[in-house]
This record gives sequence, structure tokens and C-alpha cells, in this order.
Amino acid sequence: MTLRRVVVFGVMALLLVPFSAMAAGEGEEEERVEEGLEIVTWWTAGGEAEALAALIDVYRQRYPDVEVMNSTVAGGGGSQARGVLASRMVGGRPPDTFQVHGGAGIIGTWVVDDFMEPVTHILEDNDWMGVFPEDVIEIISYEGEIYSIPVNIHRSNVMWYNIGVFEEHNLNPPQSLAEFFEVAEQLQAAGVTPLALGGTDGWEPTHLLESVLLAELGPDAYRGLWDGTTAWDGSEALAALSTFVDMLDYITADQSAITNIDAAEYVAEGQAAMTVMGDWVHGFYLAIGLEPGEDYGWMPTPGTQGNFIMLTDTFGLPKDAPNPTNVRRWLTVVASREGQDTFNPIKGSIPARTDADRDKYDVYLLSAMDDFARDSIVPSLAHGAAAEVGWMSSINDVVTFLVEDKDIETAAADFQSLADQYVR
Ligand code: GAL
Repeated sequence: MTLRRVVVFGVMALLLVPFSAMAAGEGEEEERVEEGLEIVTWWTAGGEAEALAALIDVYRQRYPDVEVMNSTVAGGGGSQARGVLASRMVGGRPPDTFQVHGGAGIIGTWVVDDFMEPVTHILEDNDWMGVFPEDVIEIISYEGEIYSIPVNIHRSNVMWYNIGVFEEHNLNPPQSLAEFFEVAEQLQAAGVTPLALGGTDGWEPTHLLESVLLAELGPDAYRGLWDGTTAWDGSEALAALSTFVDMLDYITADQSAITNIDAAEYVAEGQAAMTVMGDWVHGFYLAIGLEPGEDYGWMPTPGTQGNFIMLTDTFGLPKDAPNPTNVRRWLTVVASREGQDTFNPIKGSIPARTDADRDKYDVYLLSAMDDFARDSIVPSLAHGAAAEVGWMSSINDVVTFLVEDKDIETAAADFQSLADQYVR
């Protein structure tokens, strides 16, 4: 085992102390009237903070007597929130409800370890089973029950770019990875940073990598990374890692010191030309007053056209939630058309429901909705849809090393060992 692997597994072991063993035997809660609702999320950035506030307002209008506590834990991608949540869940002090990624993000940890109540009845009682896509229902389900309610669908494989910068340099946004390198070379020669990339939260390079893996492997082989049918150390994956490492020649100099939102801001200000990031960036740009299609443009990450890397933010009901009735009401608001059509136009995501009021969505979001309906859908690695939390965070550690040492063979071997351990 390499030193790198020892570090990776050390961190993993800390994260994966058997939760069920530690949760048992905590003190009894007193019988009490339900007055409150504590919601834990990591939505603090521009756009998402406002979107959450608007969703909470819908709840407050329906349930004015409930005191809502909005407990946010700053840190993009849940980098800090997940740890806070884990210690509360394991310590027997769960919040009433919390933001969690649909897919492996909730099922692989909280559901299999028996921390969550099924919430199938929220959709069944309201006759909403048919308004959520089957694929989405599938990733929030386990052994025939639904365990969390999706509020949105985000797209990961989007390249945001500064329209003015491209015009000024007489360039077109790149359509393929080969074109990316040509354009990046010209921008660099003209003194513009081609690609803004963050790193402070530990997952931003993984976010770029998942687009590159998809571009190089295609959707079927990309899916195979998660079920063991595609080798992480095979020639195609190695080629993708090599492309990823080549792209690092064109990134922001302060990559490890900036967040994904800082990187988006560099593009907005014209300090950098492009960034590959999820469409919460659209919510952020709207929040700072930019005009889509004028100040900034978007396209699928070069080479991923026709494919949609999806993730979904969901909310669930922990077994020991202090206010389960108020949570069920919250989940009903989250699942409702009014809730989704209030939240998503501000958040920069599309509704998980298929019956949204399209008039409420702007030009970018309508294009994302149309793509979601016709593209090949694959799960996001960096945002908990493809791999369970332990696997995802170990991959982030390997990618962080890779960004530093650019040693693709060692990284590929580490990725493969992780797959050997985690593929069920
Ligand atoms: C994702 C989450 C998004 C957004 C983003 C940036 O993991 O699903 O809703 O919050 O992180 O923090």
C-alpha cells in the first residue's frame, strides 16, 4: 500500500465508524409539543441562500406557528456540513431535517445504517409519485421505500464563460477538448487565465475531473466506473486522467486558495475566461445582477454535449428528529409544485418535478430542462449521486494529490483500489 493510500484510508476510517453501533442507547427524549423545525443545509452562497429563504417563506405561510431554525454550515459542496451532521447524527442529536444528495449520498450512508425514516407516504398521499421522473425515484429509494424528497436537479457539466473576453480575443467557446486546448493556449498567450478552478473545499478539481471522464469515456463507460465494469486503471481512464492533468496548465494560480464561487467570480470579472461548475453558478450570477446570455454564456463542458451529469438536493426525516410532524410538512412543501417553482428559479436548478410552470424559468433554466429531458443522464461523483460519501471523499483526497504531483499512474491505481473496496 502506498503512503497516499494509508492517508486516504485513515481519513475514511474516521468517517466510517459504524454509525449504527454508536447511535444506539442514547437518552430518551421527553414528550413535547412540536414548536420548531431545524433545517441544516450548506446553502450560504449568493443565490442559494436566497432560494432557501424563499422556500422557508412558503413553509411559514402555510405553518405560521412553527418556529423555523435555518442552521446553515458554510462550505461549498457540504465540505463542512457533512462532518457537523455526522457528529450530530452519531451523537443522537439529529436536526429535524437536512440537505443531502440523492443517490449514494443518502442511501449508502444514512439509509443503510438505519438512521432514516421512509418518506414514501409524502409522495403517495399527495398523488405525486407520477410527477417525479422514474430515475429520480430510483436513486432516492431503498428496498421499496423512498428515503428523501428531491427539491431540484442540478447539472454538473456546465462550462460558464465570459462573453466579453471571448469577443475581445476573437475566439469562440471550445466545443471539444481538443478545441479547449487551442483556445486556452491563445488566451494564455494574451495574458488571460483560461480556466478558473477552486480548491478550498476539497472537491472542486473532482468536479472538473468528472466532466473530463465523461468526455473521454462516454456515458456507458462513465457509468461503469461506479459498478465496476470500467477499470479506473484501464487505458481510457488513464487517457482521461492525462487530459485532466494537461488542463491544469491553464488554471488559476491560486487554485488551492479559492472556492468554486470565487472561481465563478473571476470569470464574471474577466480575470479568467471559463470555469466548469454546477449550475448553482447561474444562481450566483443572477444574485450579483448579471444578465444570462449577455454577461455570461454557458455550454456543456466541451466533449460532453448530449450528456447531463445530474445531482439532486434532497431532504429526509432522521429517525430521532425532534419534530417529525413539522418535518413531514416541510417535505410536503419541498415536494410541492409551489415549493419547487419558488426555490429553483433562484437556486439556478431545475425542478425535480416534471410539471413545473415553465413561465417561471429563465433562458438558461429552460435550456437545462430541455437537455434533462433528452440527454443521456449520468450521476455526479463530486456531489454524492454516484459514489457513497466515504468513496467520494477518498476520491477527493486522491484528486488533491494528483493536482499537486500529476502522477496519473499512482492516482489510477488508488482509484482502482477504492473501486475494489466500494463497489458492492
Ligand atoms: C452541491 C449542492 C448544490 C450547491 C453546491 C455548492 O453539492 O448540491 O446545491 O450547494 O454544492 O455548494
